[in-house]
Amino acid sequence: MNSYTDKVKAINEKRESPPLAHVHNYGCQLNVTDGEKLKGILLKMGYGFTEQPEEADLVIFNTCAVRENAEERVFGNLGFLKHYKEKNREMIICVSGCMTEQSVIVEKIKESYRYVDIVFGTNAFDRFPQFVYEVLNGRKHFYDEQGPGNRIPEGTEQVRSSTFRASVPVMYGCNNFCTYCIVPYVRGRERSREPEVILDEIRGLVNKGYREIMLLGQNVNSYGNDLGGKINFPELLRRINAIEGEFIVRFMSSHPKDAGKELIDAIVECDKLGNYLHLPVQSGSNSVLERMNRRYTAEQYLEIVDYARSRDENFTFSTDILIGFPDETEEEFKATLAITERVRYINIYSFIYSKRTGTKAAVMEDSTPYSEKQERMQRLLELQRNITTEDYKKYVGKTLEVLVEGTGRNGEGTLTGKSREFIIVNFEGDSSLIGKFVKVKITGARNWAVVGELVK
Ligand code: SAH
Ligand code: SF4
Ligand code: F3S
Repeated sequence: MNSYTDKVKAINEKRESPPLAHVHNYGCQLNVTDGEKLKGILLKMGYGFTEQPEEADLVIFNTCAVRENAEERVFGNLGFLKHYKEKNREMIICVSGCMTEQSVIVEKIKESYRYVDIVFGTNAFDRFPQFVYEVLNGRKHFYDEQGPGNRIPEGTEQVRSSTFRASVPVMYGCNNFCTYCIVPYVRGRERSREPEVILDEIRGLVNKGYREIMLLGQNVNSYGNDLGGKINFPELLRRINAIEGEFIVRFMSSHPKDAGKELIDAIVECDKLGNYLHLPVQSGSNSVLERMNRRYTAEQYLEIVDYARSRDENFTFSTDILIGFPDETEEEFKATLAITERVRYINIYSFIYSKRTGTKAAVMEDSTPYSEKQERMQRLLELQRNITTEDYKKYVGKTLEVLVEGTGRNGEGTLTGKSREFIIVNFEGDSSLIGKFVKVKITGARNWAVVGELVK
């Protein structure tokens, strides 16, 4: 029992109607999970929810620090909140998440965003009710600056946004220190959740009808390194796979330096996993990979790909690619095009390098103009479009098992979902199928998706 939670609840219960909270997530799926936990805490404190920040009594911006544009959006949107707060002086404005783990950001908020009431980090959720209580009792500001810490948050009930897809963190933090990346600084060191806790959570979700379990970690292949050798990630996958029920398991992300045959074997041998792996390559050039401190070569990366395809020739991959790392040359970029062509991903998530203060890459020389980086991005996307347009043709005539995720782009009567191979499948069907597994016979291939007909 958290007494501050009860104290805030008691205050809120005295109001005519329950106060409303608005939580906006800016980052990755772990960030979204954190937002769902914050909603769980808010619910216990007596808050209802609204999608409209202007009608909220409490707003949380749950932030992401991975690229500059994510941070700019937060500061831009804080500007809007200022106007809302002028109309509703009681509004409590909170900023949480990865951005707040950087002292430069907290300083900026203290100086230029005085109307922000509470700033708290990724490891301060259990103290959040206290912060709210003190602000409700007249305290002007609460800036939590304890750092990401090394605790494993357990026991917070989440208000999940989906009734059939659930993310389950298996570990927190990152030890890899890729030279461009802020995550290890804002999330702290790697720590794994106990396997029994994870398995219990998944059993509970499956019993409630969840159909997709997405396991999260910055590098899931490090799972168990800090648990004294009793379990590793492939073993965790096998134990999850053994849970009874109709559901599919996905996970991200896998660092190639730690992805080996044991992982691929587990994927291929577990029926609840599609023969698919998201394996962020970042670059195809060994010199860039070295400057990035990724600790694998393009050749080692391809060994994993080839092994997976020796076990199943239709094994699919998706990836993350970082374009324009400091001083990336045309030749180095061509190596990225080459590996993209060689692996033939079903999807790529590409980002133009964004300088993050405090990282090693931030002080590296960078003479490549931004316009050139944008142009490289376009070339990569065009290549990828050609690859998917070509490769998706091989699914025509096949029947794929699809978890229906929602209404398709063409509105009512159309549906979209993902196959076990993680391919987007669009087809016609009734919205009652959302959240269910269906079979779809593929009739055509598009740039980023396949289309088909529901098999009755
Ligand atoms: N732990 C995951 C990545 C998390 S961040 C992994 O190692 O795969 C997700 C993606 O954001 C990264 O894969 C990378 O491509 C991109 N990214 C990270 N730092 C970035 C930066 N400084 N600028 C642009 N993109 C970045
Ligand atoms: Fe960032 Fe690298 Fe860690 Fe991924 S593995 S979170 S890219 S430092
Ligand atoms: Fe995720 Fe962004 Fe933090 S990608 S871990 S929310 S910096």
